[in-house]
Amino acid sequence: MPGALPFCELHLHIEGTFEPETIFALAAEQGRTLPYDGPAELAARYEFANLPSFLELYYENMGVLRSERDFEALAGAYFARAHRAGVAHVELFVDPQAHTARGVAERTVLAGLHRAIEAAGERFGISAGIIACVLRDRPVDEAERMLDAVLEAAAGTGAPLLGLGLDSAELGFPPHRFARVFERAADAGLHRVAHAGEEGPADYVREALDVLGAERIDHGIRVLDDPALVERLARERIPLTVCPLSNVRLRVVDRIEELPFRELLDAGLLVTVNSDDPAYFGGYLDDNLAALRSAFGLDEAELAGLARNSIEASFASAARKAELLARLR
Ligand code: HPA
Ligand code: ZN
Repeated sequence: MPGALPFCELHLHIEGTFEPETIFALAAEQGRTLPYDGPAELAARYEFANLPSFLELYYENMGVLRSERDFEALAGAYFARAHRAGVAHVELFVDPQAHTARGVAERTVLAGLHRAIEAAGERFGISAGIIACVLRDRPVDEAERMLDAVLEAAAGTGAPLLGLGLDSAELGFPPHRFARVFERAADAGLHRVAHAGEEGPADYVREALDVLGAERIDHGIRVLDDPALVERLARERIPLTVCPLSNVRLRVVDRIEELPFRELLDAGLLVTVNSDDPAYFGGYLDDNLAALRSAFGLDEAELAGLARNSIEASFASAARKAELLARLR
């Protein structure tokens, strides 16, 4: 049972946990009508050709997130579901620029997430932190302003800001554009991660490491195109946060069996399993593990190994890591 193992979820966009029913409930509260008959009609649109076609709907749907309470409710619902999936620690992504674009301040977003994180600790014993992501298809100066604003909002609200990430449309938006903002994040004591090698080439992974100082690579499955890079990732124990159901739903692969999951493990890479945008891609962490299990015949020892990898790859404190590792024995 995956649920019995203490997993860390390290690649989870909190806006990607926004279920159609909740989108409709929030819209109704605000007296807004959506251009769909109901949640089922919205969910029926979750057939994507690629990453940009998903992002369009993902950014549109988050338009009903307005208040601190909305963000608290969004994250609260995710934590309850994650707890049932066996998740013990979460480093959640948020896209502040997607909210400031409609006038929702970084402080509102972080304060709402902070309240949900505190409640998840009390109710479920889940530990969690926040990684603010730069939208790589937006201008660089906007990312610079976002970093300043989230640092100020975290200081003002006490929200646990762990790091800076890089997401949104990948092809044509190489990591190096954001070298300065990632350098400033490091100076401010933040961890650094980046989406790379999802739809984009292995070269973007190399740039994320060398130019942004990324400590983890989100997705990264395209690294197998570059054996020297694979060898380096294995040697330096740089984790990949792999998201199997996402790769199928965004047509990175046609079927889960085509995912080079065994190849990544056999190459000695520090592979972790994550759900990315579970409300859109057909499942939470337990569903991703179940899908891998049936496609690749993973046994109990291999599942425990994936839980162990997720603990090692996390930015949890040494004490928290020791606590989680003890639960594996
Ligand atoms: N890739 C890039 N950006 C994203 C994703 C993703 O899978 N989900 C939300 N933003
Ligand atoms: Zn992602």
